[in-house]
Amino acid sequence: MLAACAVSADADHPLRALRVAEIAPPEVPAGWVTVDVKAASLNQHDVWSLRGVGLAADRLPMILGCDAAGVTDDGRPVIVYGVVNDPDFIGSDATYDPKRSLLSERYPGTFATQVRVPAGSLIDLPAELSFAEAACLPTAWLTAYRMLFTAAGVKPGDTVLVQGAGGGVATALTVLGSRAGLRVWVTSRDEARGARAVDLGADRAFPSGARLPERVDAVMETVGAATWSHSINCLRPGGTVVISGTTSGNQPSNAELTKIFFKPLRVIGSTMGTREELLALTRLLITTGARPVIDRVLPLGAAADGFAALIDGQVFGKIILEP
Ligand SMILES: NC(=O)c1ccc[n+]([C@@H]2O[C@H](COP(=O)([O-])OP(=O)(O)OC[C@H]3O[C@@H](n4cnc5c(N)ncnc54)[C@H](OP(=O)(O)O)[C@@H]3O)[C@@H](O)[C@H]2O)c1
Repeated sequence: MLAACAVSADADHPLRALRVAEIAPPEVPAGWVTVDVKAASLNQHDVWSLRGVGLAADRLPMILGCDAAGVTDDGRPVIVYGVVNDPDFIGSDATYDPKRSLLSERYPGTFATQVRVPAGSLIDLPAELSFAEAACLPTAWLTAYRMLFTAAGVKPGDTVLVQGAGGGVATALTVLGSRAGLRVWVTSRDEARGARAVDLGADRAFPSGARLPERVDAVMETVGAATWSHSINCLRPGGTVVISGTTSGNQPSNAELTKIFFKPLRVIGSTMGTREELLALTRLLITTGARPVIDRVLPLGAAADGFAALIDGQVFGKIILEP
């Protein structure tokens, strides 16, 4: 089958670690099912994997990809939930399992003609969503859903700042937040991407690092080092920063510890979400009519073009790969 794999790790030139080729299909573990992938979506996670972050050398080569929508052997259209728990994990929140992994970390991922997943990882694809739209949901959109509705503690009418306008998580935050009655402000390094976020429902867009007209109730942080100080400075006393990513690095020049305790602020880490939150997300999309923002759709064979765009940062929304 055709697959896009990490075959090595290259921190500086991640594209050199990518190979798209025909490979033998992986084994199907007992209790797992095979899904014919109709659409998968790229995440910054896949670039981290090519850089060797979070993917150990002894697991290479590894099929990349955390998200997919497709059809099972018996013809059921499904969305693939990408968090795989340790079989011994007991608990209701999959993200609290210290031995959890995301597809493409320990088990082969979704950038292939077929993917193998635990039978319990599938949810039915609602007729209202296309395969491409559904493939955006399990990682970026689920992460945004949890950040806003589980972690942030905000309510309709509150103001939320989204750092970065163009990313998959950022566009999801803008669409979901504005549909849920939040006043969404975004920052962007690029005026045109800021304007597009306003078209999606953001109330206002500001240049990265700009002084805001007033302090906000919560900040959604996925950029990391480049925006951390700005995030802390923008919050009202008692406000909340929810962090789920560090695209620009995880070592800010100032951790802002003093401001965090003095204001005082809440700093909440957030990662992915549960299968139940994924179900709730699909219901929210159907009820509101909101849909994922798709930057482009590429054949799986052109995966390198999608990776190059993501690495360049010239993306607005999600990049879809179709086997
Ligand atoms: N914890 C989790 O479960 C989870 C799940 C999904 C994603 N993530 C993480 O979240 C982050 C975002 O992922 P993504 O897939 O949405 O895409 P992405 O391509 O990493 O998104 C980049 C975003 O960051 C902004 N940005 C990038 N570099 C910047 C810089 N130097 N200064 C200011 N802004 C910058 C961009 O905005 P502009 O270009 O508009 O400025 C864009 O919105 C990644 O680090 C990813 O690993 C974590």
